[in-house]
Amino acid sequence: MWTAKIITLFPEVFPGVLGSSLIGKALDKSWQLETVDLRDFGCGVHKAVDDTPSGGGPGMVIKPDILAKALEVAQKNTDGEADTWPVAFLSPRGRLFDQTTAKKWSMGKGITLICGRYEGVDERFFEATGVEEISMGDFVLSGGEIAAQALIEATVRLIPNVLGNFESTENESFISGLLEHPHYTRPRVWNGLSVPEILLTGHHENISRWRKSKAEEITRIRRPDLWQRYCEQKTENEI
Ligand SMILES: C[S@@+](CC[C@H](N)C(=O)[O-])C[C@H]1O[C@@H](n2cnc3c(N)ncnc32)[C@H](O)[C@@H]1O
Repeated sequence: MWTAKIITLFPEVFPGVLGSSLIGKALDKSWQLETVDLRDFGCGVHKAVDDTPSGGGPGMVIKPDILAKALEVAQKNTDGEADTWPVAFLSPRGRLFDQTTAKKWSMGKGITLICGRYEGVDERFFEATGVEEISMGDFVLSGGEIAAQALIEATVRLIPNVLGNFESTENESFISGLLEHPHYTRPRVWNGLSVPEILLTGHHENISRWRKSKAEEITRIRRPDLWQRYCEQKTENEI
């Protein structure tokens, strides 16, 4: 079963939002979640996992030996062998997580995520293990737990059978390189605003053409970076 392993100082916050709705219903059926409490690997009476930064400065830094030990234990699967799936440390300075990565990871057997706290982790941990840093965006959270839940939700919902209507992920933002077209429903007129006439014609081909042009317009206006990539891709495909 597709597995998310999470190394965290706050295992009690999982599954959190991942226990709700369709993804929650699929938990332990189509995917599973395991937490590893980093505190169990701490030292001394207080089970400390961190220490003051070398060179001084504010905050605390997670020790490399402690995190490496926790990762080694987390990666042991039931056969006593190490998991071969991706391992990522949630970090604002990491590679930006995106739909392509979510898709790729959903097609594998699982992921191991490490949630940071405090100032972060001793750099030697990354040098020694090669663990990739992954960011959820250009902002700073207090810990990696919310980031991990967002990443897992984006990935797990792409596993076939997790969402009732798998097709609904096929037309979403980013899949075609575009943001999604606008949606409408009843009532036909609300607050003086009408549902666009074309959506009421029942002409699927015209509706689909209209939706694509709206998706292009929204992407061009809101995300020039995506729009440029989309245009380049389109030109390449036409050559
Ligand atoms: C207070 S932050 C540390 C920020 C770090 N000192 C810096 O300036 O880059 C503590 C932890 O929250 C998590 N975190 C914060 N912002 C994140 C983001 N944008 N994406 C992923 N994880 C994040 C990371 O695990 C990080 O180690």
